[in-house]
Amino acid sequence: MQDTKTTLKDIKDEASTKIKSLDSLDKVQELHVEFLGRKSKLNTVLRTIKDLDSDQRSDIGKLGNQVKQYVTKLLDQREQELKDIKLKTALNQEWIDITVPGEIPKVGAIHPITQLLWKTEKIFEKMGFEVFLPNEIDDDYHNFESVNIPKGHPARDAWDTFWTEDGNILITHTSSMQNRVMRRMKPPIRAIVPGKCFRNEATDARHEHTFYQVEGVYVDKGITLKDMLGTLKVFFEAFFEKEVEVKFMPDYFPFVEPGGQMALSCVLCDMKGCKVCKETGWLEVLGCGMIHPDVLSQAGVDSSIYSGFAWGFGLERLIMLKNNIEDMRIFHSGDLRFIQQFS
Ligand code: DAH
Repeated sequence: MQDTKTTLKDIKDEASTKIKSLDSLDKVQELHVEFLGRKSKLNTVLRTIKDLDSDQRSDIGKLGNQVKQYVTKLLDQREQELKDIKLKTALNQEWIDITVPGEIPKVGAIHPITQLLWKTEKIFEKMGFEVFLPNEIDDDYHNFESVNIPKGHPARDAWDTFWTEDGNILITHTSSMQNRVMRRMKPPIRAIVPGKCFRNEATDARHEHTFYQVEGVYVDKGITLKDMLGTLKVFFEAFFEKEVEVKFMPDYFPFVEPGGQMALSCVLCDMKGCKVCKETGWLEVLGCGMIHPDVLSQAGVDSSIYSGFAWGFGLERLIMLKNNIEDMRIFHSGDLRFIQQFS
C-alpha cells in the first residue's frame, strides 16, 4: 500500500493542479467539497492518523495539517482572484463616464422684459435711486387726482382707463406712485417705480393693453431741467451701451410744468436717418418735466424750497429699440422661440 506521505503529496499535487486551473467561481464550492469536505481523501487520511504508530503519528499529522492549510489557502486565493476578475470585467463592461457633461434640459429663459427691468433698476440704483413697486389696482386719487388730473379734466381722455366695478383703476401709468413716494421719503428724493400698466385701447405693433412703465422722481433743493437731462442721458448710455444725445421737446402733461418729451439720438442709425426714427435722427422715448408745484404740495413737499423732475417711459419700447424688435405684441405672445433668443 502506498505510504501515507505519498498519498498526502499526491492529494496536494492534484488539488494544486485543479485549483490553479479553476476558471469559474461556481466550481469553487465543488473543489472545496472534493478536497476539504468530510468525505474528501484528505479527511479520510487525516482520520487514519490516530491509528498510526506513535513514531509516525506526529510527522504525518503535521504533514496532513500542512496539506490541509495549503489547499485551504490556495482555494481562498483562487476564489479571490476569480472574484477580482469578475469585478474587473463588470467594471469594464458597465463603466459610466462621469466626466461626460449632463444633458441640460431646455427649461426656459428669463423674459427679456424681466432682464431689462433688472438692468434698468441696477443703473438707477447706482445713481442713488430707490425702487418702489406700484399697486396694479389703485384708486382714482393716486392714479389721477394726486397728479393734477381732477375728475372731469379733459386730460383724462389721454389715458384709456380700465375701471373695476367698485370704481378703482387698473393703473394707467406708474405716476400713480408719485404722491406716495414723495410722502414716504424726505428730500433728496430719488425713486423709480417700474411696473405693469394697463390701457383700454386697441392693440397694434406699438400698443398693448398691458405694458411696463418706469416712472422716476427726483426732488431736492435747486433741481433743474439740466439735472434731468444729465440723469437720463447717463441712464440711456448705460442701457444702450453707447453714447447718445438727448433733447427736450415741449409737450403737455398735467403733472409737470414745463412738461415735454425727451428725444434720444436714434440708436439704430446713429442719426443718419432710418425708418424707425422716420428719417429725423431722433426718437421720442419718454414723457418728463419739472414736477408741478401743486403735485409737490399735495404730497407735502414745500414747493418754495424744493423742486424736482419726473419722467415715465415704456420699457417695451426701449427693449424694441435695443434689440430691433418690430412688433410689441411678441412680448406677451408666449412664443418660446422668441424668449429663448435672450437666454
Ligand atoms: N405718466 C405719463 C404717461 O403715462 C408719462 C409721464 C410723462 C410721466 C411725464 C411723468 C412725466 O412723470 O413727467 O404717459
